[in-house]
Amino acid sequence: MSGLRFAQAPPQKSLPLYNGQPRLAEFPAGGRKILSAKAIEAHRICGVSVTIRQYDPHDFAAIFKLDQSCFPPGIAYSKTMLKYYLAQPGAECLIAGDGARIAGFLISEENPPLGHIVTLDVAESHRRQGFGSLLLAESEAHLMFRGVRTVLLETATTNEAGIAFWERHGYRREAVLKNYYPGRLDAFEMRKLLSAAPRSKA
Ligand SMILES: CC(C)(COP(=O)(O)OP(=O)(O)OC[C@H]1O[C@@H](n2cnc3c(N)ncnc32)[C@H](O)[C@@H]1OP(=O)(O)O)[C@@H](O)C(=O)NCCC(=O)NCCS
Repeated sequence: MSGLRFAQAPPQKSLPLYNGQPRLAEFPAGGRKILSAKAIEAHRICGVSVTIRQYDPHDFAAIFKLDQSCFPPGIAYSKTMLKYYLAQPGAECLIAGDGARIAGFLISEENPPLGHIVTLDVAESHRRQGFGSLLLAESEAHLMFRGVRTVLLETATTNEAGIAFWERHGYRREAVLKNYYPGRLDAFEMRKLLSAAPRSKA
């Protein structure tokens, strides 16, 4: 899997830079080498430094708890489902840290040229401060770097905040997936074409 990813990587000169250093680099994660970001201080939000880093298995309990708090029963993932998504060969989980605390996380999966956002969760106490935008911008940059050109996701048709967030970031409603969630709740399938244009504003 990693060989394929590296074969698809663009020339070194197009790597995004952070403080003059490549933001994306090869590093070992969970026993495999993936092409992704080193832990970086990516941003300051409300004067607090925020780090976007790769998921570590020690984070599992915290992200499970966060997911349970972000979604209603039936839509929130069970431990089994969360572990399943994290273990997929093309999966990447990015963590936004506010000091020692996890403010949010995003799980994506990829099969270039297609990518899929499995979930994006920001703690209620940290919402409307740019954490979701920061995670999404970082994830899209990683996906794009690995050859993804189209990103898909699903969100409940009743999730007004989620829909507003995705539309703000260029995702468009493609279809209604009837009874997608338990309890006969419908979902919008949303899609964005990634381009070399400047990244979404965080
Ligand atoms: C949706 C979610 C990820 C947004 O995260 P966030 O960190 O609050 O988002 P940001 O602060 O980066 O918001 C960026 C923009 O998205 C839009 N937006 C975000 N939340 C919104 C809300 N509740 N109502 C309307 N627009 C909203 C706004 O345009 C916002 O910009 P603004 O604050 O300058 O107006 C967060 O609310 C969340 O985790 N919700 C529960 C889980 C969920 O629904 N996830 C998405 C579906 S998978």
